Amino acid sequence: MSVLAIDAGTTGVTAVVVTPEGTIAAKGYQEFAQHFARPGWVEHSPEEIWQATLEATRDAIKGYDGQVSAVGITNQRETVLLWDRETLGSPRRAIVWQDRRTAAICTRLREEGHEPRVAQLTGLRLDPYFSGTKLVWLQENEPNTWALVEDGRYAVGTVDSYLITRMTRGTWHVTDVSNASRTLLYDLERGDWSDELCALFGVPRDALPDVVPSWGEIATTDPRSFLGLEVPIAGIAGDQQSALFGQTCFDVGDSKCTYGTGSFILTNTGTEVVRSEAGLLSTAAWKSPSGDLTYALEGAIFVTGAAVQWLRDGIQIVGSAAETAAIASTVDDSAGVVFVPALTGLGAPDWDPHARGLIIGITRGTTRAHVVRATLEAITFEVRDVVDTLPATTALTSLTVDGGASANDLLCQLQADLLGVPVERPRIVETTALGAAFLAGLGTGVWGSMDDLRETWQLDRRFEPGGDRARTDAAHARWRRAVERAKGWAE
Ligand code: G3P
Repeated sequence: MSVLAIDAGTTGVTAVVVTPEGTIAAKGYQEFAQHFARPGWVEHSPEEIWQATLEATRDAIKGYDGQVSAVGITNQRETVLLWDRETLGSPRRAIVWQDRRTAAICTRLREEGHEPRVAQLTGLRLDPYFSGTKLVWLQENEPNTWALVEDGRYAVGTVDSYLITRMTRGTWHVTDVSNASRTLLYDLERGDWSDELCALFGVPRDALPDVVPSWGEIATTDPRSFLGLEVPIAGIAGDQQSALFGQTCFDVGDSKCTYGTGSFILTNTGTEVVRSEAGLLSTAAWKSPSGDLTYALEGAIFVTGAAVQWLRDGIQIVGSAAETAAIASTVDDSAGVVFVPALTGLGAPDWDPHARGLIIGITRGTTRAHVVRATLEAITFEVRDVVDTLPATTALTSLTVDGGASANDLLCQLQADLLGVPVERPRIVETTALGAAFLAGLGTGVWGSMDDLRETWQLDRRFEPGGDRARTDAAHARWRRAVERAKGWAE
């Protein structure tokens, strides 16, 4: 029996039907609107996310001549939503992970001395990226709405818990460890919501979902709400942990890099919470039904694919993401142009919510091709910055990649040249959705074990590092100078 996976990402929802052989039998996709009400703000309409989920699922199911036996959910993480437990309607838009409005709240909490304790409990840091300070902002700026959270009328959750509530007609309010561990409210080592953190961020624990294992029979969809389907929801994971699972990175030291809206490099650290002094996050990867928790180290880069999207939708110098490789290949290099796509501040390893995007090195000879090439190069520089901070014990001998932009051969080759290690791309690069299908299939017996899943992984292409090392290192040094200039701009 095949499995349905729903990947509710930052810019759209993908639904796929995955066969027991690990192939994608059908697919649906629906984009939804991004709302940028003020500089640095990013919001989504919950109802639109739900409608996009229904639309994408309808298309996937329509394209598949058979039944699905379970559904797995994966999602953009950290984004917070509120909804009425009775009507399931939301009183306001979701505040998205990329939103920078809480930079001042983070500074205040840091000045009050809370960061070391928050980092110790959560493995994270005080940055607007995570859910906790977004909820503080709601308390301080929309007290009437927040009063209904305190009253128990509104539920609080991330995108996974919102979708599960909608799919079950309000019966279930659950999340999994990988999503919970991104909220600043979850005690990473103890594996539960933290009363101390809920008090610090002013969040009533009752408003939060129950934390369940990442696979197993978690809930059942209500056919009246979910396209006539009554199937078990048997897998949940935040999208980056889901991609780690989809790449079958089950052993300590296994790593992957997903190129999506942002790019996220995760390394499996097993049952140990490994902490980084160099700007990496410690996070939950997944929890088995028997309660075993697996952790990961993560380098979170906020804007990579989103920079290409900005070329297309913002300044409109490309017609589609797919044509960037061809345009960038018309020039040998960026001719000194460097683009720092700090469009929503900087994540790992620099962590500066006040940084803003910068294009430098423009001359009268600069063309669109140089800017497009500088954009692809920026993505690879950002990934190198994170790889450079990995502890020696998890140093990479190759980089396994996935996500939309990994289909871009030029990007993969530039990445291999810059890192000096091979880049490996699997046949299926929709690994985020694949991971959710794997979780749901493992939870319902479609696959018997993780070893069965490993057998489905197939290499598409290996990009060997080449080029002139001294030249790529010099280009990287120039990039770092530009990054320093982008910092602090919006302070
Ligand atoms: O932490 C944010 C991440 O979950 C978003 O992923 O795939 O939408 O870039 P994506």
